[in-house]
Amino acid sequence: MPNRSISLTRYLVEQQRVNQHIPGQLRLLLEVVARACKRISLCVNKGALGGVLGTASSENVQGEVQKKLDILANEVLIEANEWGGHLAAMASEEMETIHVVPNRYPRGEYLLLFDPLDGSSNIDVNVSIGTIFSVLHMPEGGHNTVQERDFLQPGRQQVAAGYCLYGPQTTLVLTVGDGVAMFTLDREQGSFILTDNNMRIPADTREFAINMSNMRHWQTPMRRYIDECLAGTQGPLGKDYNMRWVASMVADVHRIMTRGGIFMYPWDRRDPAKPGKLRLMYEANPMAWLIEQAGGGATNARQRILDVQPASLHERTSVILGSKNEVERVTAYHLQADTGA
Ligand code: AHG
Ligand code: MN
Ligand code: MN
Repeated sequence: MPNRSISLTRYLVEQQRVNQHIPGQLRLLLEVVARACKRISLCVNKGALGGVLGTASSENVQGEVQKKLDILANEVLIEANEWGGHLAAMASEEMETIHVVPNRYPRGEYLLLFDPLDGSSNIDVNVSIGTIFSVLHMPEGGHNTVQERDFLQPGRQQVAAGYCLYGPQTTLVLTVGDGVAMFTLDREQGSFILTDNNMRIPADTREFAINMSNMRHWQTPMRRYIDECLAGTQGPLGKDYNMRWVASMVADVHRIMTRGGIFMYPWDRRDPAKPGKLRLMYEANPMAWLIEQAGGGATNARQRILDVQPASLHERTSVILGSKNEVERVTAYHLQADTGA
């Protein structure tokens, strides 16, 4: 049984005493985000009874049809975070432009980015979904008015990142740069309780996650790796692999955080103009930092994700992340192909 006495609040206070990475405004921010996730979790649980399933009659900036829960989760996060004085502005996968904290509230020093509802295609079929978030500091010498360019910082400059998974349990997974902690929502107490204070990803794995239906559109190095996985003990990797694909990045990443594995959403030829499906600032950066903090690796198939300088808020990227040795192998295959080696 876990020690039931360590709540999220206590964890944040005690971490600040030890490492000084969670000053007051950041603690408030993380507690507010956790509270918003608790509200979203309740909506998710109600499902049809709460009238939250189904599609809304709108599209987001990415041209994707929005689900009712995409919009609701976005609103919950905005409302919860506007008034506390800890934020200067927010950015979301579901909003075309940044949301600056209105003048009627004090402005703080942090920027919050989120994918309010990850795994939208799984909402109506009662499969795990989640919320992903990333926290940046306002750039030094901050401006009077917050602008989109203030958000365009590489992922290594994040000061906090996490996700909340709405699955059979609701779990919040968080890093502030001192490893990764997991909290489980205790519905009777109404609070997140620490259930793992040091998540670690094994360097090797026999489990891969990729949408195989896109195989014919991949580049050669991606095909090479998956062909080798499928060849099992008879192939060059010398071991049999298993495959998992939830189609909610948050759930696929949580499995990897828990028992290892490799997750891939590579660039493909379906839409060559797009550098990938997943979004750098709302999905790739927070997940890459969590994975690295747990001992794993995360690249865009060629470069460490956390070193990518974003050019725009809604930028997309290829994502290869998880068990370190496998991520290094896939990345090496791409770099070898580039240099003709
Ligand atoms: P979102 O619901 O925020 O748009 O993200 C969905 C993403 C990600 O969660 C998942 O890994 C991927 O899309 C699923 O894509 P496929 O439809 O190719 O399976
Ligand atoms: Mn998403
Ligand atoms: Mn989403």
